[in-house]
Amino acid sequence: MPDYRRRATREAMSVRLDVNGMMAEAIGAAGVARDEADALVEPVADVARTLQAQRAAGALPFYDLPYQKDALAQTKALAAAVREESDTLVVLGIGGSALGTKTVIDALETTRRVVVADNVDPWSFGALLDSLDLTRTTFNVISKSGETAETMAQFLIVRDLLLRQLGAVDYVKRVVITTDAEHGALRQVVHDEGFRDLAVPAGIGGRFSVLTAVGLFPSAFAGARVDDLLAGAAWMDQRCQDAELWKHPAHLLGTLLHCADVRHRRNIVVLMPYSDRLRSFAAWFAQLWAESLGKAHNLEGAAVHVGQTPVTAVGATDQHSQLQLYAEGPADKVIIMLRLEDHRRELPIPAAYADLDSIGYLGGAGVGRLLNLEQRATELALVKQQRAVMTLIIPQLNAFTLGQLFYLFEVAVVLAGGLYGINPLDQPGVEESKRLIYGQMGRAGFQDQRADVEAWLARKRDEYIL
Ligand code: PA5
Repeated sequence: MPDYRRRATREAMSVRLDVNGMMAEAIGAAGVARDEADALVEPVADVARTLQAQRAAGALPFYDLPYQKDALAQTKALAAAVREESDTLVVLGIGGSALGTKTVIDALETTRRVVVADNVDPWSFGALLDSLDLTRTTFNVISKSGETAETMAQFLIVRDLLLRQLGAVDYVKRVVITTDAEHGALRQVVHDEGFRDLAVPAGIGGRFSVLTAVGLFPSAFAGARVDDLLAGAAWMDQRCQDAELWKHPAHLLGTLLHCADVRHRRNIVVLMPYSDRLRSFAAWFAQLWAESLGKAHNLEGAAVHVGQTPVTAVGATDQHSQLQLYAEGPADKVIIMLRLEDHRRELPIPAAYADLDSIGYLGGAGVGRLLNLEQRATELALVKQQRAVMTLIIPQLNAFTLGQLFYLFEVAVVLAGGLYGINPLDQPGVEESKRLIYGQMGRAGFQDQRADVEAWLARKRDEYIL
């Protein structure tokens, strides 16, 4: 196993950011000119100083998650105990309480089954429940607020099922609850019923929580190397200590994306991994970028309505679906490609049909090599159309590099939030939707929201419903 305490190992496994395809040298006036970027050094340094002060004051605790000790030990110990009892862990959670875990499970090699149930679709959730051996399954209910309707509905269904099938004593053993350490209804349930539990640290919102018990417990149960995830995040933190913009991968990423949006009208950002194992990472990124930056008001309360719209794609599949739009449609996008240098597996393409040029040339290569050549070809094809592209080069996909990726984007998004002048940590637009759900479901205290929905339905005109 690689020893990440050795600097040479960390260097060899470093995720690199290649921004050539963003720059004016490559894509002309559509790109960021070097002096334009250099003029951003001071404003970025201002934001960086504020973030640094907030970090030092403990106001941005996600920065220091790579260095947690006690919480990690507790999480790993509980995961080891649950591995003795269960073959399957089902995560009940949504949004930031689900997407980080999904990413880890889909990206890394694992030895135990983890299923992330992040919807209340009766067909998929029902089918999942029908398929489980409840005597060998543990349910990890994850909700920081302890009251999200979807997760609580799942919990009530599972609790009832367990009670009926296992009885009032044994059912408690099949549930682990991850929620706020002190507040919320779910914390109350832990106190009342004695479920095993883990805490979401104070000050960490869902989309920044993958490196807390929220993501680490299911990952450790699955057999992923959670210490390496944190070591990777710590390495990215170390690589982001240089105050110089051109040596700070996360600040450069956040700065160029913000600049592309506000100065070059590129208000869509496409994350396009060339690896099926990173499809869920793209979904994690989409939540992080959308929920953190899509804001109506700035910190002074003025209406600004900012944010870049994230889109997920996967190479090479979407070259045959979305690429036409990216190459020739509106020049309103930045495409971030994720390239895996070494897929750690190759499938050789057998030589055949030597007499047919259009097939025969493939023989002797491998599909991993083909995929990487496609990434390079597509990057250049986009540059030739003066489209903004950057590439994250990942030596191999493992817990260490995945930890770097999580941390890189989390630091980039708070920097971008500072440049937009908004709060990247809240999500008032999501909260409104939650309140309207409570109103319709008859929750006490939300009668006004129920009336709102009824009024909206009454205002709808039949002639517009075909
Ligand atoms: O990032 C966020 O804050 C949200 O996506 C939440 O994670 C999501 O709404 C679920 O909230 P909770 O963990 O409180 O159930």
